[in-house]
Amino acid sequence: MSYPSKHLLAIEGLEPPHIADLLDLAESYALLNRSGKTQRDLLKGRTLINLFFEDSTRTRTSFELAGKRLGADVINMSVSTSSVNKGETLLDTASTLNAMQCDLLVIRHAQSGAPALLSQKVDAAVINAGDGTHEHPTQALLDALTIRRHKGRLEGLIVAICGDIAHSRVARSNIHLLGTMGARVRIVGPPTLIPADAARLGVEVFTDMKAGLKDADVVMMLRLQRERMSGGLVPSAREFFRFYGLDAEKLALAKPDSIVMHPGPMNRGVEIDSAIADHPTRSVIGEQVEMGVACRMAVLDILARRLPRNR
Ligand code: CP
Repeated sequence: MSYPSKHLLAIEGLEPPHIADLLDLAESYALLNRSGKTQRDLLKGRTLINLFFEDSTRTRTSFELAGKRLGADVINMSVSTSSVNKGETLLDTASTLNAMQCDLLVIRHAQSGAPALLSQKVDAAVINAGDGTHEHPTQALLDALTIRRHKGRLEGLIVAICGDIAHSRVARSNIHLLGTMGARVRIVGPPTLIPADAARLGVEVFTDMKAGLKDADVVMMLRLQRERMSGGLVPSAREFFRFYGLDAEKLALAKPDSIVMHPGPMNRGVEIDSAIADHPTRSVIGEQVEMGVACRMAVLDILARRLPRNR
């Protein structure tokens, strides 16, 4: 296993063998999970703390499941009832958890760079579960695993990432991962939701949804992240759906065997039509969630291998 770091803070900087090895390990965990078996000795005696300063359903639950399936002691710290509410800083909170000798610290924070800052202050391996508009590395890994299972490869695929790209850490991690692995990435959305540094990201930019979807192998839809918007960047949800929402008519422009993805949470009728989200053959949204557990098991596994035994 060629993974280069103590932490997982971002996809940017990882090389193709690092990503391929992680995906191969995650695939083995996907098969293990489907068999109903567990591997509870792997993280026995290790402590994993989930520290989520932003809401989550999928990421927090799947890290908890992943840790438990590998035998770790898992603690979900409830930030809303913690001493953060009494004014304790992020770094003091982290130092407190560090003193309890936690081994793996999973953090989600509204501030880009918060996990990286934390990783310099604690002994635990730090995993970024989403930081501001920066990155959401395990989401990109689970997306890549899902794509690879359906298409057999990543290289050469046309992947259209559509919607609110500017505020999306999911888009950023996917752009880095898919580009590194040789996919052709398109970003598709209204000009107000295309990031200013799009040219640097090595993607093709489309503001016309129909042009952006043409011949795509993978269509990845993203929700409007209104919590990160300052001011009205889209006229209305109804108008957004008309031009950028994925429905059967727009999807018909992609390849006939294209798959539809969404990291969740979905806003049905805004960025995606229910009939597409629930499509029995084209939508792989449920499988993304399943692969999330497998990928997080793989990440915990490889990071735990680098931890000292006596922590
Ligand atoms: N995709 C994702 O990060 O979902 P949650 O916000 O529910 O964790």
